[in-house]
Amino acid sequence: MRTFDIETLVREAEKASQGARASYSKFKVGASVLTKSGKLYTAFNIENPSLMLTMCAERIALYKAITEEDSEIVAIAVASNSGRYCFPCGACRQAIFEFAPRADIFIKSERGIRKYRIEELLPNAFRK
Ligand code: THU
Repeated sequence: MRTFDIETLVREAEKASQGARASYSKFKVGASVLTKSGKLYTAFNIENPSLMLTMCAERIALYKAITEEDSEIVAIAVASNSGRYCFPCGACRQAIFEFAPRADIFIKSERGIRKYRIEELLPNAFRK
């Protein structure tokens, strides 16, 4: 992986999680997205009293890169304040499948870092 190593990618996701706007769930998630250009986009989850408006950290980080037209995504890292592996939700998996199909996905817990590909997390993904 260029410019950023895995530890840095994960550390940036952890750092981002600290800013989470998670006053309802108290579940703080951070994500970082590395693009081929070497840029890193980070985000945290943002909740809303109308709970369905909540947005996950992964999709915000992903869409930050996409809206910068920096869309060749090589890696994604996810971390939370739970100490456990924070697997992307179904909606985020579908978004990763669409916008980051070749990314390595790193998920951090107290026990270490696990690496996945979207095919493992979302087998038989919906496609048109
Ligand atoms: N959440 C994420 O940001 N990413 C995930 O992968 C799972 C869940 C957020 C949504 C919500 O703000 C909180 O974590 C769980 O209720």
